[in-house]
Amino acid sequence: MQEPRHAEIIEGLRCTPACISPKYFYDERGSRLFEAITRLPEYYPTRTEHAILQASGADIARAIGQGCTLIEPGAGSCAKAAVLCGLIAPRCFVGVDISADYLAGAVQRLGARFPGLDARALGGDITRGIDLPADLPAAQRLVFYPGSSIGNFDPPSALALLRQMRALAGDDGGLLIGIDLPKEVAVLEAAYDDAQGVTAQFNRNVLAHVNRLIGCDFDGSDWQHRAFFNTAESRIEMHLEASVPVQVRWPGGERAFAAGERIHTENSYKYALDHFYELLAQAGFARTRAWTDPLQWFALVHAQA
Ligand code: TRP
Repeated sequence: MQEPRHAEIIEGLRCTPACISPKYFYDERGSRLFEAITRLPEYYPTRTEHAILQASGADIARAIGQGCTLIEPGAGSCAKAAVLCGLIAPRCFVGVDISADYLAGAVQRLGARFPGLDARALGGDITRGIDLPADLPAAQRLVFYPGSSIGNFDPPSALALLRQMRALAGDDGGLLIGIDLPKEVAVLEAAYDDAQGVTAQFNRNVLAHVNRLIGCDFDGSDWQHRAFFNTAESRIEMHLEASVPVQVRWPGGERAFAAGERIHTENSYKYALDHFYELLAQAGFARTRAWTDPLQWFALVHAQA
């Protein structure tokens, strides 16, 4: 029997327009390319979020308080958690990530850097719901979701995810979340289509990964990276566009793409703060506060349950 992900990938490839889930970006090469994206001159979100933490750190720390239990879905390298831990001195940290092995090493290094921090690694996917350790302190929990990752979900899924985070936080907890704000289209589009072509490589890499997963025969050189802002939906869309007619085959099936036909690979929604506050309210959060950079390109939002 084929694995469920085979069926999911093939279903997406058969659709018109076709799509591939963004979760398949992150094989080993994809994860390395993503790290490189976060350091590109055009890719402002990572460094802007970091600058906000630096500039408003004391104020953010006062709003959150010291000694909380910090929970970070998608913690990865724990680099952002390390900055936050330096500001709010949590009692306990739980990093959650799908790549449990990579996470375990990162959490161990975080624990070594902050003596007295009860640092734990939990393998899991927040979108499927996670079970926190039973002995985790219930009071004063803070869910940390940086990087504007919430923007990669469509609004109904984003709301469902915020509700999950509200449940994790508990009735006296909170959320600290990074939001990429709407801005000049040229700035947005350059961030997802850099001059060095790293984002293009990242986007095309999904084809190599899918080839390995389901045994299909995409040739990356047939596909062009397309990234543009969809104003009506307030989102960056990433697509791969066939530059020639393409026939893709996999065990048991095939699909023809005309030249110019696209595969949709990801969205990145840009929320105006007021609109995002409404989502937070619908998810059961209140008492919201935001810190932004001088250009108001990015916001760190703290919301109390
Ligand atoms: N969530 C971030 C963003 O939307 C990071 C990210 C996810 C990203 N997928 C990406 C960045 C693809 C560039 C390309 O910006």
